[in-house]
Amino acid sequence: MAWRGIVREFKDFLPVSDRTPELSLHEGNTPLIEAWNLVQEELKNLKLYFKFEGLNPTASFKDRGMAMAIAKALEEESRAVICASTGNTSASAAAYAARAGMTCIVLIPRGKIARGKLSQALVHGAAVIQVEGNFDEALGIVKAIVRRHPITLVNSINPFRLEGQKTAAFEVCEQMGGSAPRYHVLPVGNAGNITAYWMGYKEYRERGRVTGLPTMLGFQAEGAAPIVLGRVVEDPHTIATAIRIGNPASWKGAVAAMEESGGAIGAVTDEEILSAYKLIAAKEGIFCEPASAASLAGVRKLYGQGYFEEGATVVCTLTGHGLKDPDTVFKVTEEPVRVKPEVEAVERIIEGIL
Ligand code: F0G
Repeated sequence: MAWRGIVREFKDFLPVSDRTPELSLHEGNTPLIEAWNLVQEELKNLKLYFKFEGLNPTASFKDRGMAMAIAKALEEESRAVICASTGNTSASAAAYAARAGMTCIVLIPRGKIARGKLSQALVHGAAVIQVEGNFDEALGIVKAIVRRHPITLVNSINPFRLEGQKTAAFEVCEQMGGSAPRYHVLPVGNAGNITAYWMGYKEYRERGRVTGLPTMLGFQAEGAAPIVLGRVVEDPHTIATAIRIGNPASWKGAVAAMEESGGAIGAVTDEEILSAYKLIAAKEGIFCEPASAASLAGVRKLYGQGYFEEGATVVCTLTGHGLKDPDTVFKVTEEPVRVKPEVEAVERIIEGIL
């Protein structure tokens, strides 16, 4: 049978009842792609996989949690939802709210979100409010608004968001043939996703679907690494705007995932992020957004330190699609050559390449 979206496919693992609308854009069921060239050329003796969440309906992992959160909001007869976002949450909220026939309000840090994400929020008809501040400030405002107005908050402090997002861990276990990977690696921003994956892995084991648990590894951008530093970062900065967050809402959840699994949360520089971003695209044919590449950047760093045992299975979540943020491509690549419309002119260039 065709895939029906996470609320239906995983209903036995989710807080849903017969009354919960089966809201869906057929999110989930994303591929687990085995690395091919990277493990031959650089990360030798690793079994490296990418869980490509950029192939969700709005092109990021947020759709899993948003399907669940907006289905519950509908069930509770809410008429409007609101979130703060670095871009992907707002794109997803806008799409699912449109489908649910609800009003959607999104607060974004002005000038610091990728254009593809902004275009999504606009085209799906959300009310977009640009805040002259950062994500953390926008989230603070949203929390205050929902205390005063009957609007459902759909940031990941809404527990249904994490419930939906945990389903990615179930899929990884199934795709690995019924076992958890040795390591699971994620970019960390507001820290909801690493918290959700850890929840998912633990739950799948408790239900007897797998025997083991992975070690959880999270990576923040160096200029936005509050968990690594152990303190709030007032003015976070990184080229990976999706994870430009200085005071993550699920801070405790991320630390618990790290501690309980014997893992780590580290930082990678913008340079390391961009280098991994280009590598995933050029060596594996997968176009993810810069924040997503923080996972591979972290793997490369730990690999260099001899962290992984021989043959270890490592799954990196690639959280969003690269097409969300084409501007970054033009920052890290050269402008294509120009030629006169003549065969010889094109030939001369090709000869220089072959
Ligand atoms: N990768 C991408 C592409 C993201 O959009 C985000 C978060 C993360 C990683 C980090 O996930 O917050 O669960 O630790 N984006 C949020 C947003 C903050 O508003 O779209 P996290």
